[in-house]
Amino acid sequence: MTAQPPPDGTAPSPWEGHIDAQLLDVVRRRVLSQAGPVTELQLAAAVRESGRLLGAAGSLLAMERISAELNGLGPLQGLVKDPAVTDIFVNAPDSVWQDRGAGPQKVAVRFGNETELRALAVRLVASGGRRLDESSPCVDVKLAAGYRIHAVLPPISTKGTLLSIRIKRRTVFSLEQMVDAGGVEPLFAQLLAALMKRRLNFLISGATGAGKTTLLSALLGLCPATERLVLIEDAAELEPDHPHAVTLEARHENAEGAGAVDLAELVRQALRMNPGRLIVGECRGAEVRELLMAMNTGHSGGGGTIHANSARDVPARLAALGALAAMTPEAVFLQGASALDVVIHLSRANGKRIVAELAVVQLEKGRLEVVPALTLHPELGPVRGAAWTGLAARLKLADKFDGAAPLSGGAGHHGYLP
Ligand SMILES: Nc1ncnc2c1ncn2[C@@H]1O[C@H](COP(=O)(O)OP(=O)(O)OP(=O)(O)O)[C@@H](O)[C@H]1O
Ligand SMILES: [Mg+2]
Repeated sequence: MTAQPPPDGTAPSPWEGHIDAQLLDVVRRRVLSQAGPVTELQLAAAVRESGRLLGAAGSLLAMERISAELNGLGPLQGLVKDPAVTDIFVNAPDSVWQDRGAGPQKVAVRFGNETELRALAVRLVASGGRRLDESSPCVDVKLAAGYRIHAVLPPISTKGTLLSIRIKRRTVFSLEQMVDAGGVEPLFAQLLAALMKRRLNFLISGATGAGKTTLLSALLGLCPATERLVLIEDAAELEPDHPHAVTLEARHENAEGAGAVDLAELVRQALRMNPGRLIVGECRGAEVRELLMAMNTGHSGGGGTIHANSARDVPARLAALGALAAMTPEAVFLQGASALDVVIHLSRANGKRIVAELAVVQLEKGRLEVVPALTLHPELGPVRGAAWTGLAARLKLADKFDGAAPLSGGAGHHGYLP
């Protein structure tokens, strides 16, 4: 008999129909009555002693389920097994969603009730060294297992506990692989490689989950091995394929409100570490002041990602972040125009993450403007914009450049530069 999809069109739960709640309860109680961390051996013994005849496959499934409940993502653990799943959202005990690259899709996984869901959220946040309770109802933590967990409790969330989980997939894409997968047009790839070679200062913009961090990692992989990369991150995510990269990770205050080391402080520290390139994984606060200042004081080849829905929205976003550092919009625009060269914009189309635009940062009548130089048109492909000549000049492209030159050859860690 073939398995039928659930009537509401949701994806089936990987656990469903295999394990009964009573068995789980017996094993759970048996294991928890013993001191210390739960080991596989303890679980196997507990399943055996339950007296249930499950067979090898059934016993394994029971063990995995209970281990996940006690050590991992609980009922959500099964979703992680699918390598295509990058995000999980829990909106209510019976409203669990996954993103496999084509946007959120509801799955049949369920929590027993709100108490179970809240307990998982509290445990996950605690295992990341933070606290989730009434006094701290919104928390973002990164777990060693490679999960970034965001949790919100009511009444901040108007109904119940909300969980957003980003699963770090170990796959590090090279720019070449991204071209092959169709996310980066070859012409864009050539210009990106030239941008890295010329050590222009850049920001990668895009909406949440557009692939900004992944592209930044790929671009850093193009840097020559002789360059020392200093990466500053709120939660270490960048994994460039580069032999000389060091990461500084911000630290949040502890339960007593002490011990915080923020990104702005890390930028100041990084400047004393002789950075060949200074990279801020994600500009999302007052550290924008230090980053722009660093770029304006002779540190070229720097970059980072920034959340913006279009390249044109980047100046407004920078102004908003600058305000957090008590900078006026005028100051941000002046600093930004001399610090930044290019904005690389990513967007999602038909479930694919694509490099959609390269734009040049300019000062126009005292305002910071991000002017398109190359835009990916859905039918026509890459189309040159008003700032094309400006981009070509900054990249020192030969006058005869027509985008047809081969991608490989030249200097660089991976020999990818044009
Ligand atoms: N070109 C790509 N091809 C396939 N998967 C990708 C690609 N780019 C990104 N991803 C996957 O999409 C997920 C989100 O990517 P990433 O973290 O780079 O996005 P982001 O824009 O930095 O997100 P955030 O806004 O949360 O910082 C990751 O799991 C990543 O592996
Ligand atoms: Mg990111």
